[in-house]
Amino acid sequence: MSQRQHYFAAGPAALPDSVKQQIQLDIREYGNSGLSILELGHRSAEFAIIIEQARQLLRSLYAIPDGFQILFMQAGATGQFDALPLNLLSNKPVMTYVDSGHWSRRAAEFAQKYGRVQMLSAVTENKTADGVVITARDRSDWDIAADSAYLHVTPNETIEGIQLADITDATVPVVADMTSCLLMRPINFEHYDLIYAGAQKTLGIAGVTVVIVREDLLQQAAEQTPYMLRYDVHAQEQSIVNTTPVFAVYCVLRMLQWLQAQGGLAPMLAAANERSALLYQAIDAQPLTCNKIAAELRSQINVSFDIDNEQRLQAFLLQAEAQGLLGLAGHRKQGGVRASMYNGTALSAVESLADMITAL
Ligand SMILES: Cc1ncc(COP(=O)(O)O)c(C=O)c1O
Repeated sequence: MSQRQHYFAAGPAALPDSVKQQIQLDIREYGNSGLSILELGHRSAEFAIIIEQARQLLRSLYAIPDGFQILFMQAGATGQFDALPLNLLSNKPVMTYVDSGHWSRRAAEFAQKYGRVQMLSAVTENKTADGVVITARDRSDWDIAADSAYLHVTPNETIEGIQLADITDATVPVVADMTSCLLMRPINFEHYDLIYAGAQKTLGIAGVTVVIVREDLLQQAAEQTPYMLRYDVHAQEQSIVNTTPVFAVYCVLRMLQWLQAQGGLAPMLAAANERSALLYQAIDAQPLTCNKIAAELRSQINVSFDIDNEQRLQAFLLQAEAQGLLGLAGHRKQGGVRASMYNGTALSAVESLADMITAL
């Protein structure tokens, strides 16, 4: 087997070793069922327990209050880009989207099919003597339309490596795409009305999308909403609507159990602080590398940076691979280097990466 110290890919992403070992056992036989987890029926007694345990554990780890439903849906986060306006627009004429980068713009693009989209900008480019710096925009000039059905935010932009501070004073329901930041820190559910995330980065594998939604938003789907995208149907059927992606939901449960064994979300936040501080320190101290994002917007999860020339960049990526640091090539739209550091990322892997940057 190849020597892998860490896999830094943005998603599908690294799974903790102990989780993979448990999955291997359960692929052989799940409990005493006589079946592999890959064969288990979505209406079996065993799966009923798996999905309920996943729901309960997610609720307790995130401290999700009563009055929110937890749904396990399909079609990824991209499926939610259509599901949101279809389920939430109701008879309101506007949806408000905060533009912070690629994924928020993509979500807004989808919403435009269903109604008028108001865009608010979260970041701005400033030219300085040292080049361009991306800083947070003053939010006091945001004028959220009073007749907006919801305000959509992407708290962590996976490609650019931009992280937004919480919006705590919205006057309309707040919807958040947490595909690259779900369960990476505690959150206050008073500030959110709907959270969604494809599970493949922070919570398992592709195939299931977690939706946490305030119950009073469930009953307003447009008539043309496809059955599989309706929140009320998923709530009513406890997410066993058609053939549920059993294996993907099972992986969510194993990841949640792992998170619980690590002590929950407070230690996850502390670890993310430590990893990202170390990496940004190395980038800032190295004249050959550059990250244009101002401190207040820097992601603690996806850290993107450039290396001064293409030859050096390619040599860096090759050397990283030789050292067992995999998945570091930047997104195809952005280039450069991107280190995605989800909950399972060991500090030692980031130390190795930081040492490589320092030695450039
Ligand atoms: C923030 C964010 N939103 C949405 C998506 C799209 O997710 P999916 O592939 O599950 O549709 C991604 C994928 O990288 C993402 O990072």
